[in-house]
Amino acid sequence: MHKTIGWIAQWPKIVWALVLQLLAIGALALIVKGLSFVISPPYPDWALVLGQATIAALLSWRLPYWWRWIQFIIPLGLYAALLLNVSPLLALVSFVLLWLVFRNSVVNRVPLYLTNQITRQALKELVSDRTDVLFIDLGCGMGHNVVYMNGLTNVTQSVGVETAWLPYWWAKFQSLLSGGQVFRQNIDSVDLSQYNLIYAFLSPEPMAQLWRKVQAEMSPNALFVSNSFAIPDVIPDAIWQLADKRQTELFVYKKDSPSESNQELSHA
Ligand SMILES: C[S@@+](CC[C@H](N)C(=O)[O-])C[C@H]1O[C@@H](n2cnc3c(N)ncnc32)[C@H](O)[C@@H]1O
Repeated sequence: MHKTIGWIAQWPKIVWALVLQLLAIGALALIVKGLSFVISPPYPDWALVLGQATIAALLSWRLPYWWRWIQFIIPLGLYAALLLNVSPLLALVSFVLLWLVFRNSVVNRVPLYLTNQITRQALKELVSDRTDVLFIDLGCGMGHNVVYMNGLTNVTQSVGVETAWLPYWWAKFQSLLSGGQVFRQNIDSVDLSQYNLIYAFLSPEPMAQLWRKVQAEMSPNALFVSNSFAIPDVIPDAIWQLADKRQTELFVYKKDSPSESNQELSHA
């Protein structure tokens, strides 16, 4: 029983959203049935759609607030598409495109957003006193970091891995034109011992698991740099606060960066 509840709780948000829309249809059917005793049907389509949107948004109160908006807008959007006779093919093409670009938002809870130039310059500065830099971008998006790092004189190898199809193809194309190597590969299957500058710009979701991999595989003199997302309970070796618009923070870790609990014990 507990296992089943745990499994359901781990459903991706998008599955929850769909289930809640289905529940909203059920609730709306019951309300319409009750209402038929007071006001005789038929009811206008727009009122039913508005009812569906409102109930779905209300049922989504435990999801992050932007999901409540999505839940509200989706029934209205579908209704508007029907009224405007929008071809279902357009919806299919949009869905396929979105999936090709953002599949990791659903699969790994890591969306696509890109490192800016100021951050790339900070990476350059971070390793300016090192030679033979072996760089990897875990989830390299469109490959900009791979190409940039490949252009630095102290960088011997610049690699990116990416699983979302469109960013991968774009990154691959960029690397063929401008240098670096890009592979369609999952982060989980990368051998991190091959690199001494490991960069990730992901999301809070995979950080704890990624840190276990980094600790198991990263070589002692290597650096692991996470853009914006700190590893929970681990004290970074350094935090670089950048002067860009989004005030990017780079969390720099070494293989033996201490955990907060160990630190507390050593102070006790
Ligand atoms: C926030 S973007 C960062 C893109 C790029 N590194 C940059 O800084 O500009 C994260 C990227 O990681 C990719 N990604 C997420 N999980 C992945 C995984 N397990 N294996 C490979 N790529 C992954 C996503 O598709 C996305 O392109």
